[in-house]
Amino acid sequence: MANDLDAAKAAAAEQAVRDRVRKGQRLALGTGSTASFAVRAIAHRFPGARFDCVASSRETEELARSLGIPVRPLRGDDRFDLMLDGADEVSPALDLTKGGGGALFREKLLARLSDELVILVDETKLVRALGERHRIPIEVVPFARPVVEAAVARRGYRPSVRPGPGGRPYRTDNGNEVLDLAPKVPLTDPGAEERALREISGVVETGLFIGLAQRVLVGHADGRVEERLRPAPG
Ligand code: A5P
Repeated sequence: MANDLDAAKAAAAEQAVRDRVRKGQRLALGTGSTASFAVRAIAHRFPGARFDCVASSRETEELARSLGIPVRPLRGDDRFDLMLDGADEVSPALDLTKGGGGALFREKLLARLSDELVILVDETKLVRALGERHRIPIEVVPFARPVVEAAVARRGYRPSVRPGPGGRPYRTDNGNEVLDLAPKVPLTDPGAEERALREISGVVETGLFIGLAQRVLVGHADGRVEERLRPAPG
């Protein structure tokens, strides 16, 4: 099963790199196992090529550098031609749950700065509604965590603190904690839910990515890749 999933993720990543990545682009690099297939595919397809890259996590930064892809810090005027990333859930409207790897804040910031966000998944990530199969991660300021837990419980979620090494709470690259929220039922209006969660003082970011992905590549274990595009507005 793991090998089938890896084959599906690799197929999606390789197709995205073949079809969307061009030498010299400004690239935002996502985080997670599928995004790492994309980083490897870039290194393999464009050995020694110059890209202008920013990574959404230390993990991705280290991987990219180890493969000879230079990564630099974010600048005030940054825009990216393309961001390649994975997701935990993809809805029919191409809204996403992300943050299974804890990089949701940096991923969302880079996605907003990118002309195109291309999401790479295997077919197990496709859901009818967000929250169906995956809990919704939110990044939280540690001091505020009890207040945030109470507020999300009032909204009907069951929150759990994401565990890290040694049984202590997991810390993001930004030094914050992550609460994974189990909804009572899958979300019917994820956009409204995202806005409501962000209004809670102490919530830094949510793993609900609404209206950000333009293109989703769904890989299958036999190497097939389906492409889904966000319908043009209006
Ligand atoms: C990282 O914080 C996440 O948003 C990942 O993109 C997401 O969890 C998907 O990860 P995998 O590609 O490892 O399934």
